[in-house]
Amino acid sequence: MHLRRSIEPEWLDELPPADPRAMRSRRDLRRINALMMNGRLVARELRRVFPGPAPRAIVEIGAGDGSFLLRVAEKLAPQWPAMDVVLLDQQSLVSPATSGRFTAIGWQAQAVSADVFAWLAQPAAPVFDVIVANLFLHHFDAARLAELLSLIARRTRVLIACEPQRSSRALFGSRMLGAIGCNDVTRHDAVVSVRAGFVNRELCGLWPAVGAWTLREYPYGLFSHCFVAARAENDASGACDVGAGHPA
Ligand SMILES: C[S@@+](CC[C@H](N)C(=O)[O-])C[C@H]1O[C@@H](n2cnc3c(N)ncnc32)[C@H](O)[C@@H]1O
Repeated sequence: MHLRRSIEPEWLDELPPADPRAMRSRRDLRRINALMMNGRLVARELRRVFPGPAPRAIVEIGAGDGSFLLRVAEKLAPQWPAMDVVLLDQQSLVSPATSGRFTAIGWQAQAVSADVFAWLAQPAAPVFDVIVANLFLHHFDAARLAELLSLIARRTRVLIACEPQRSSRALFGSRMLGAIGCNDVTRHDAVVSVRAGFVNRELCGLWPAVGAWTLREYPYGLFSHCFVAARAENDASGACDVGAGHPA
C-alpha cells in the first residue's frame, strides 16, 4: 500500500541563501543527489532522448546552486562539448565558481532568479529543447503541478524529472540521514519531500492531454522516481510506453 501524498513547506525554500543552516543543507543535498544517483539517471535519459545531435540548450527549473546540473554536464561534455544552460531558481544561488566550472567544460551557464510559473508564462519565452527538474516537482500540490506541467509542455520538447519516490523504503532512508551527518534542515526537508513524492503513473496522469507526447514514468534506484515526457518527434524509440517500468 502506498503512502498518501502530502505537501508541507520545506525549510530550505524559506531560509535566506546565506543562512549557515541553508548553506550546510545545500552541501547535504549534493551528497544526497550522489547517493540517489540522480545525475547519472538524468545524463542517461538525455542521451536516450537525443541519440543524434545534441540539444542546443538545457534549462533546469528549481536548479538551486547549479551543482546538480554541473555533475550532469561533466558526464555529458565529452560527447556534447558545447551547450547553453539556464539555471532557474527563485533564489540567487549560483556561485562564480560553479559558473566557471561550466565554462571550463565548454558549457555556458546563465543563472536566472525568478518564480518558475512567472518565468514559463512569459508570452515571448521560446520553446526549449529540454527542461530538467531534479527534486523540484514534488514541491507542488496536484492543482499547481498540473498548471506547471501545462506551462512546461508549452515551453519544451522534452521534460526529464527526477523526484523522490513516495515509498516506505524512501521514508526510512530519509529518516536515516542524520547518520551521515545531515543537518536539521536536510533531515526535515527529506521526510517532507518523500511524503510529497510520486509513485506509479501520477505524473503521467497530470500531464496535459495536448499534442503527441511519449510519456515514461518509473521508479529508479532505491529512492527516486523518474518522469520523461518527449514530443513524438523527439522520442528515440517511437514507442508510447506510458507507465511502463524501466530497468534502473
Ligand atoms: C530541493 S531544492 C533542489 C535544487 C537542485 N535541483 C538540486 O537538486 O540540488 C529545490 C529548489 O527549488 C527552488 N524553488 C522552489 N520553489 C520555486 C519556484 N516557485 N520557482 C523557482 N524555484 C523554486 C528552491 O529555491 C530550491 O533551490
